[in-house]
Amino acid sequence: MALWFYLLLEIAVLVTVHGQDSRDFISIDCGITSNTNYTHGKTDILYVSDDQFTDTGINHQVASNYVSSSLDELLLTVRSFPNASRSCYALKPVIQYRKYIVRATFMYGNYDDLNRANAVKPLLFDLYMDVNFWQTINVSDPTSIYEVEAVAVALADSVSVCLVDTGSGTPFISALELRPLVDVMYPSANTSQSLVLNYRLNIGPSTNSSALRYPDDPYDRIWRPWTSPDAWMEISTTETISNSEKDLFQPPTAVMQTAATPSGNSSKMEFYWTFADAQVPNNEFYVNLFFTEFERNTSRLFNVYLNDVLMKNYTPPYESVGYLYSTRPLDQASEYHWALNSTGLSTLPPILNAIEVFTAMHLTRAATASGDADAINAIKEQYQVKRSWMGDPCAPEQYPWDGLNCSYGTDSSRIIAINLSSSALTGVISSSFAKLTEIKYLDLSYNDLTGPIPDALGTLSSLQVLNLTGNNLNGSIPASLLKKSQQGALTFSYEANPNLGTDGTSNGSKKKSGTPMTVTYIVVPVVVVLLLVVIIFVVWRVRKFRGSTQDIHARPMIDNFSIPATVNPENPFQHENRQFSYKELEKITRKFTNVLGKGGFGTVFLGYLEDGTRVAVKTRSESSSQGTKEFLAEAQNLAKIHHRNLVSLVGYCMDGEHLALVYEFMSQGTLQDHLRGKTPGATALTWGQRLQIAVEAAQGLEYLHKGCKPPLVHRDVKSANILLSESLEAKIADFGLSRAFDNANHTHVSTAVVGTPGYLDPEYSSSYQLSAKSDVYSFGVVLFELMTGQPPIVATGNHATGLAQWARQQLNNGNIEDVIDPKLTRGYDINSVWKAADVALRCTEHESRRRPAMADVVMELKESFALESAYYRSEFPSTTSNWNPHTQTASERSQTSAFEVEQFPRFTPSAR
Ligand SMILES: *[C@@H]1O[C@H](CO)[C@@H](O)[C@H](O)[C@H]1NC(C)=O
Ligand SMILES: *[C@@H]1O[C@H](CO)[C@@H](O)[C@H](O)[C@H]1NC(C)=O
Ligand SMILES: *[C@@H]1O[C@H](CO)[C@@H](O)[C@H](O)[C@H]1NC(C)=O
Ligand SMILES: *[C@@H]1O[C@H](CO)[C@@H](O)[C@H](O)[C@H]1NC(C)=O
Ligand SMILES: *[C@@H]1O[C@H](CO)[C@@H](O)[C@H](O)[C@H]1NC(C)=O
Ligand SMILES: *[C@@H]1O[C@H](CO)[C@@H](O)[C@H](O)[C@H]1NC(C)=O
Ligand SMILES: *[C@@H]1O[C@H](CO)[C@@H](O)[C@H](O)[C@H]1NC(C)=O
Ligand SMILES: *[C@@H]1O[C@H](CO)[C@@H](O)[C@H](O)[C@H]1NC(C)=O
Repeated sequence: MALWFYLLLEIAVLVTVHGQDSRDFISIDCGITSNTNYTHGKTDILYVSDDQFTDTGINHQVASNYVSSSLDELLLTVRSFPNASRSCYALKPVIQYRKYIVRATFMYGNYDDLNRANAVKPLLFDLYMDVNFWQTINVSDPTSIYEVEAVAVALADSVSVCLVDTGSGTPFISALELRPLVDVMYPSANTSQSLVLNYRLNIGPSTNSSALRYPDDPYDRIWRPWTSPDAWMEISTTETISNSEKDLFQPPTAVMQTAATPSGNSSKMEFYWTFADAQVPNNEFYVNLFFTEFERNTSRLFNVYLNDVLMKNYTPPYESVGYLYSTRPLDQASEYHWALNSTGLSTLPPILNAIEVFTAMHLTRAATASGDADAINAIKEQYQVKRSWMGDPCAPEQYPWDGLNCSYGTDSSRIIAINLSSSALTGVISSSFAKLTEIKYLDLSYNDLTGPIPDALGTLSSLQVLNLTGNNLNGSIPASLLKKSQQGALTFSYEANPNLGTDGTSNGSKKKSGTPMTVTYIVVPVVVVLLLVVIIFVVWRVRKFRGSTQDIHARPMIDNFSIPATVNPENPFQHENRQFSYKELEKITRKFTNVLGKGGFGTVFLGYLEDGTRVAVKTRSESSSQGTKEFLAEAQNLAKIHHRNLVSLVGYCMDGEHLALVYEFMSQGTLQDHLRGKTPGATALTWGQRLQIAVEAAQGLEYLHKGCKPPLVHRDVKSANILLSESLEAKIADFGLSRAFDNANHTHVSTAVVGTPGYLDPEYSSSYQLSAKSDVYSFGVVLFELMTGQPPIVATGNHATGLAQWARQQLNNGNIEDVIDPKLTRGYDINSVWKAADVALRCTEHESRRRPAMADVVMELKESFALESAYYRSEFPSTTSNWNPHTQTASERSQTSAFEVEQFPRFTPSAR
């Protein structure tokens, strides 16, 4: 089994590498000759033909009278889909949960010689991304270029783009592009909504300049020039506009180098768009405004108003990217009227460099349950079904795959009927049919199916109609099917199968006598993959893992788990937590392939429960100096302790020599990595976020010290043991070293000093007197880390000092600015930092009795947080809370290159 599993992974990898370039761009020029590719003249990007991305469609060239030397190569050909109500492209490989830009481009160019697209009778068809409606494409002019783009999180290992024929003309497409983004970018695009681009404007480029895209923009966004109205004046710089890697939007330098300010004596800039003009399905706009200051030592200060409501009082940063962006949709209005007017204090008028406007695409439609989708895809592959079977099998609801009927639930849709009658199917009956657990109706009549009827079909409890008439099946009929049919639960037809025996009631003996199985194994590797999936599935079912790891609709996990017979009777938390066998852990962690980290205890692996939930599996390494005792200590502690700021235990494994703990997965990793800038794609934490984390971690510790019975000392508080959730909520991890301590005198004498250098309580390390105050000391060091961004041991000149001592020295000189983390570029309240510094100093007092208790620490940090929040509100006085100010420093490369595409006619903001 293990070998098969590896083989499966290997093949999957081999199959998917094709058609993608080193930047992970997917670039398809639809309609070019099959299996060809070319390098695009202006961008140097390699574009490939459609072959590996779609199964249907017909290639065309646009009419010759629409071809000119200035026409982009991408637009010379189209692929049209005359024969299916829904046709899809599967863009892959993509990485699940990674963020991408997906862009589809359309130019009709009278490719079919029918002069279809005109203003009187436009060509209309719908575009879907995965199962969700994206946009209606309204082609009312044969030469116009219609471009739609969305920022989306991939919900699976492919993204499908589907064209739906709504009866107003044959869908077609000119180009399809996918570009990966850094995950922190465009934070409003997430797993519940994508952002559909309305417009992206580069303001103030010199007259007649063209759109900017790759390589000026490494993410290949297309920035359209917006030559300013008369009321505006263009200004520009040749200096590099710096843009940090961690910036949320990363507009390219070339875009930021040009801007507009009011012309004449005016101190005001205005522009607007209307909802009606935008022609978008909903009125939920997200806007990014970009600004940069070109002049040194100026005071440019202006107010940003939306529909006469003050959004922000703003000063752009000098030669670096500044922006305002909406974190939730703008308040709905029929018109969005913006005004930037300078305040009396400003010597300079307002400035604006670029704008992006999006609307939300809600990902509300449920996809087909992954078990069903996998099964039907396996069936499609096995029989090479000649139908337009692409994208999600059941959704959108009006257009399921031809021959399929589905039921639609809120979480997922299920396949309930398949009609593959007279579909020229050959070979054996796919065992994947038996994976469609909700199927009621299965018609495979009048094909050329051979081999036996799989026993597994008898296990389908919902099956009401099974029609196998007119095939070439042999062997005996499974007793389970005959029985159901006799009981009247199943309408079962199997006439006109000359070699099918009706006598057999024993169904086990004849199986595997058919030979065609072996053929499929050899012919197509993909089929091997799919069969293996089936085999694995079957094995998993036997082991009571209901559903595959990808099946997000599995039932509650506890119900499906049988506790192995070898369970330790002394096991204290049998009923509180789930117990895993080692074999199960192997599956969950995909054979321990994905290492999250290493600790003193052992290695931590990423795993997936069968409902798709991610977990962290912490194993004991063979060489670990800590043994079963520590293991049980940690498990016992965790099982009893529940607090939102403490990492919770999902289950554990004690299987022979193998010990492991399964924790909730904290997707943002450790605080330490965040502070060191080692978390991929994360921005530097703001002071407000750091304080929030400090308060939460302190609450976790307070609970250990005061809320637990008996109270616990953690003994290894450090930034590497503070984990962050997706929303950056802090939780304390690693209770392995916790030890119950005597409640009466609040101390505990231990024989060995445990802990991490730099965080160690100096009193404890000399006296071995352990108390909650040791944790307080370590927490003080964490506070200093948050404040300074320094490691717990600081190298000063040629010797190393503890961070606490170093910070104390600096602060004693009244020198707080010098110790503050330089990554906190702006936007913190100095009083708030002083307050936190005071707490940290008292936490790290040498004498433990002078240190505060965690409860006091929590209180004081909350006060510090309140100061910071008040400062934030006065500094950024928005009447609505949906604006985040942002300023960036650091540097980025600059390049110039031009790319010409006609001005997109769909949507133009007007200035007045
Ligand atoms: C592009 O075409 C060349 C020559 O036909 C081929 O060798 C190469 O593999 C193709 N590249 C891709 C990514 O399809
Ligand atoms: C699509 O439909 C057209 C006209 O209805 C037909 O001529 C053509 O053969 C069909 N193509 C495919 C691939 O079925
Ligand atoms: C399609 O676009 C044309 C021209 O812009 C417009 O007149 C027409 O109303 C649009 N049709 C739909 C259904 O949106
Ligand atoms: C996605 O973003 C929207 C808007 O910021 C928010 O309302 C929603 O809760 C987010 N969804 C998820 C799953 O994070
Ligand atoms: C810009 O384009 C207009 C119209 O296409 C043309 O008349 C003008 O000469 C161009 N200006 C420059 C500087 O190229
Ligand atoms: C700018 O203001 C000055 C003095 O107020 C005035 O003389 C001049 O005409 C104004 N210029 C414009 C273009 O309005
Ligand atoms: C700025 O412009 C807005 C919108 O026109 C207007 O309501 C507001 O009074 C102006 N404020 C100043 C200070 O000019
Ligand atoms: C298959 O059998 C079912 C039930 O007997 C029947 O409703 C259906 O029409 C049959 N299919 C064909 C193609 O004859």
